[in-house]
Amino acid sequence: MHTAERLKKIPPYLFMTLRNKINEAKRRGVDVISLAIGDPVDPTPERVVEALARAARDPDNHRYPTDEEWGMLALREAIARWYQRRYWVEIDPKKEILVLIGSKEGCHHFALGVINQGDLVLVTDPGYPGYKPSIWFAGAEPYPVPMRAENSFLPVLRDIPSEIAKKATAFYLNYPNNPTGAVASRPFLAELVEFAKSYQVAVCYDNPYSEVVFGVERLSFLNAPGAKEVGVELNSLSKPFNMTGWRIGMACGNPDVVAAIAQVKSNTDSGVFNAIQYAAIEALDHCDEFTARMVEIYRKRRELVLETLRHLGWRYEPPNGTFYLWVPTPKGHHSAEFCDFLFEKCSVVAAPGAAYGVNGEGYIRLSLTIKEDRLREALDRMRRNLPRFEF
Ligand SMILES: Cc1ncc(COP(=O)(O)O)c(C=O)c1O
Repeated sequence: MHTAERLKKIPPYLFMTLRNKINEAKRRGVDVISLAIGDPVDPTPERVVEALARAARDPDNHRYPTDEEWGMLALREAIARWYQRRYWVEIDPKKEILVLIGSKEGCHHFALGVINQGDLVLVTDPGYPGYKPSIWFAGAEPYPVPMRAENSFLPVLRDIPSEIAKKATAFYLNYPNNPTGAVASRPFLAELVEFAKSYQVAVCYDNPYSEVVFGVERLSFLNAPGAKEVGVELNSLSKPFNMTGWRIGMACGNPDVVAAIAQVKSNTDSGVFNAIQYAAIEALDHCDEFTARMVEIYRKRRELVLETLRHLGWRYEPPNGTFYLWVPTPKGHHSAEFCDFLFEKCSVVAAPGAAYGVNGEGYIRLSLTIKEDRLREALDRMRRNLPRFEF
């Protein structure tokens, strides 16, 4: 059977490859501990599960959720309240908010709604592996903008060649950043808005880790004056409320871009199960403390990992966002080869930095989303089985 030419460009999705590797080792009886995937094992807040169960029993919710095309107005209003409370940002629930099936869906439908065939699209490197395939699906080409440790993993906008900036029609960014953990600052966001205005670049600011920061300000792209003129922010309930499996998120910001994504969506999917939308309202309105507790848990796990890394010779200060640690590989080790070494010696899986782009070489990514006892076991194995490294 023939399949589409466009698929030939798309590499297998990183985490599918890693999952296969983990499952294959498990079948051989290996006690694998995966620190590779950012998928919280901790449960969703109980009151959110109860709200889902209640709403799921109402047959009105068993029908297509398309009555309100952009997602339930009640949910869009809850999203506006959450943004107001958490980020001091005003968003119009009627024109500036669209309910998504997660931020990943938004990244893809942004591409189909905003980007034209043959366009050039800026994308940070390293970056979330979902962006490039979406750009390719839209018939456009990604242009990697490097993020380097010496610039706090923020792109240096003035270093983007002006002929590239002039050609580019969109820019995908994400802070708090997966994979590096870097956070943005207000001056950076202001600079980004200016850049986008002067080159007429539409910004897709992917912000699903907005709540996961340690000792620094929570920031939305929409905090930057003029942000709504140049793009949208995608966000998600996946990470702050341990709801990765529920598939619900939002696009907020420029009404034209939101409408473009909505147009793609209404011709592609039929929205989010109403019962999940009701549960999302519960999460957004009542679970700030839950999120704060999760962030504390991640802070503690981060410290545990850093202690072990220091014991093994690492000397570095991680940035202050996300539940990932972007760890430099020891001298003489490439990222993939160091991941293999870690797996062989400790049965611990890490994500190789090179899988996130050429500038990810020289790093591995560790995720803090497993239970503390398993994390401690992984760290014990590392202390027992790894040598002290040089950097
Ligand atoms: C940067 C980034 N964007 C988007 C997503 C997908 O999030 P969601 O579950 O909301 O689709 C992830 C998930 O890991 C991510 O790291």
